[in-house]
Amino acid sequence: KKTMKDIDVKGKRVFVRVDFNVPMADGAITDETRIRAAIPTIEYLVEQGAKVILASHLGRPKGEVKEDMRLTAVGIRLAELMSKPVTKLDESIGQAVEEAVASMQDGDILLLENVRFHAGEEKNDPALAQQFAQLADIYVNDAFGAAHRAHASTEGIAKHIPAVSGFLMQTELDVLGKALSNPEHPFTAIIGGAKVKDKIGVIESLLEKVDHLIIGGGLSFTFIKAQGYDIGKSLLEEDKIELAKSFIEKAKAKGVQLHMPIDAVVANEFSQDAETKVVDVDAIPADWMGLDIGPKTAAHYAEVIKNSKLIIWNGPMGVFEMDKFENGTKTVADAMATTSGYTVIGGGDSAAAVEKFEVATKMDHISTGGGASLELMEGKELPGIVALNDK
Ligand code: 3PG
Repeated sequence: KKTMKDIDVKGKRVFVRVDFNVPMADGAITDETRIRAAIPTIEYLVEQGAKVILASHLGRPKGEVKEDMRLTAVGIRLAELMSKPVTKLDESIGQAVEEAVASMQDGDILLLENVRFHAGEEKNDPALAQQFAQLADIYVNDAFGAAHRAHASTEGIAKHIPAVSGFLMQTELDVLGKALSNPEHPFTAIIGGAKVKDKIGVIESLLEKVDHLIIGGGLSFTFIKAQGYDIGKSLLEEDKIELAKSFIEKAKAKGVQLHMPIDAVVANEFSQDAETKVVDVDAIPADWMGLDIGPKTAAHYAEVIKNSKLIIWNGPMGVFEMDKFENGTKTVADAMATTSGYTVIGGGDSAAAVEKFEVATKMDHISTGGGASLELMEGKELPGIVALNDK
């Protein structure tokens, strides 16, 4: 794929789709990782003398203007981080936007309003895509986190003007692409999170590639059940037990070492104040629920991680937001921080976990895409990337 470096952007109007979908609480940004991650692309374009028009979604306003989903706070923070003015508009199309673009000087930065205030964005309405395209000479997609969405500003627009990838997009694809197509061995994948349902595709695809597959989190209880154990009140996907069995069989057939919990932290209720104890997986009491992997399991997982050359992690080992159930995830995070292997965090909750346990800087790559990195790991083509042409 062509990148910005392959084309002349000087004096050109460049529509840059970024993923500024940052978590917010009471109007304040609680994690600015995605803003920082877009800066190399923006800085490069500014230095080259382009007119930089930034567009993003924030949240899921469903085609309506939602005051708490405006990009105003993001614009303010971006200006601070870049030590440069950022003109934030209250619209993403229409006359006011066209006038603002027309008065831009080379090197100026404009931030459009949340593109999802228009229903046409998520519908990939060709008319909206055309309106975005009219604003610019060149399209740069740097929104890796939204690359799995075929929306007007991530896919439709690329049909109208020359379209290339930004630096963040390039880095994400390089790292994840290389890890998956040409992995170093031993290659370990850690899959956690709440539901088997969300991880079927990724487990299927990883079973073809990895040496070790580590299972944790809520979804591991369906695997424990599949081995014939009682799991009490733990999370169970009844209709995925057979699938879990087939994964266990497939791992065996492929020579993949599948690591499942041998003990668990169980609680008498889903609460920070719950009574808790550690039990082996063959002794989960009927009225209790497993909310974390146990210490024996965590120590074993840490050992596998330490002996791996490449480790990809997607999904926490337990309810790490609650202190009583954070140890499994923390042990895995610490092992990721100290292993000499190359460590990749597949976005979302695992990224939040390495932040919480203050080991983010020790990771080799933290993806800015949750859903996008998952789909990439599943081997799917992402529409936002497919759409980039080589015009
Ligand atoms: C994300 O946060 O994963 C991306 O920004 C995509 O957001 P979406 O799931 O609302 O499309």
